[in-house]
Amino acid sequence: MSLTRKRILVTGGAGFLGSHLCERLLRDGHDVLCVDNYFTGRKDNILHLMEHPHFEVMRHDVTWPLYVEVDEIFNLACPASPVHYQFDPVQTTKTSVIGAINMLGLAKRVGAKIMQASTSEVYGDPTVHPQTEEYRGNVNPLGPRACYDEGKRCAETLFFDYYRQHKTAIKVARIFNTYGPRMHPNDGRVVSNFIVQALRGEDITLYGDGMQTRAFCYVDDLIEGFIRLMATGPEVTGPINIGNPHEIPVRELAERVIALTGARSKIVHRPLPQDDPLQRCPDISMARSVLGWEPKVDLETGLTRATAYFRQLLADSGQIADR
Ligand SMILES: NC(=O)c1ccc[n+]([C@@H]2O[C@H](COP(=O)([O-])OP(=O)(O)OC[C@H]3O[C@@H](n4cnc5c(N)ncnc54)[C@H](O)[C@@H]3O)[C@@H](O)[C@H]2O)c1
Repeated sequence: MSLTRKRILVTGGAGFLGSHLCERLLRDGHDVLCVDNYFTGRKDNILHLMEHPHFEVMRHDVTWPLYVEVDEIFNLACPASPVHYQFDPVQTTKTSVIGAINMLGLAKRVGAKIMQASTSEVYGDPTVHPQTEEYRGNVNPLGPRACYDEGKRCAETLFFDYYRQHKTAIKVARIFNTYGPRMHPNDGRVVSNFIVQALRGEDITLYGDGMQTRAFCYVDDLIEGFIRLMATGPEVTGPINIGNPHEIPVRELAERVIALTGARSKIVHRPLPQDDPLQRCPDISMARSVLGWEPKVDLETGLTRATAYFRQLLADSGQIADR
């Protein structure tokens, strides 16, 4: 419980990460305004917060200006999975770029601190491993992922221009693959995909040979990183990597999900999508030294919690038998 109650705006607050962040900020004793256009977010994610006296929700698209009095802004609004951000790529770029302009404008007007949910996708298909914040990335600006990658890169540029030009108090977090309860079940992200396929007893689709690696961060760890970053003084702007450096081949993830769910699913291979990075792993030295942060939840524990969530979700919608 914090000693001073702050008014905090969370854009994208009805999404996967946003809903966990709203929950944590309320638990810490703040007033939370959740803004979302429900493109990929769901009311179900925040239903349990609706009766909270310090929680407020507004349906709003961040590509339009917003005038509210707040002390801090967490800018998370943006579809995060390729199936969703490629559905309407022009809107994705608008959300990142115009959304950043609108939220930075608001921060400047009311003197609020603002944190951007940036992404490891700014590194593209990296030629440096693991990725440090100094690495400038290897992004294809013309490919199908560019609406997201370049939109997020431009948002970072805007954050640093507001910092230099207007002295806005900015924080940029580069988020690496994060998973946990309330991920969208059909968003095609690897963890939710595997768990949902396994629970339904379907074959597990592995893109490529499955030897491409990923590092997965559990949502509670990530949110702790956000809170610590926002609490830093004006000298800390980031960008700062927040993710779990424990790297595993995607094939191993599939095998662990099959073992954990007790599924009889087979692994089937599909071609790798265009520009899919082969390796992705954060160097979190900066988060360790500046924020005193590192992930605490191991993959087994996190996958168990995520599986319990998806099992309930699929049972409630009659897609699998309850157990
Ligand atoms: N989950 C991850 O692994 C990950 C990794 C890197 C970066 N991020 C970033 O973190 C943020 C949250 O990601 P998430 O995983 O919770 O995804 P999500 O899709 O669950 O959440 C995004 C939220 O933003 C909302 N939104 C989208 N466009 C909007 C608009 N124009 N106006 C208002 N709201 C809008 C959606 O409805 C949704 O509630 C995103 O900015 C994403 O780019 C996430």
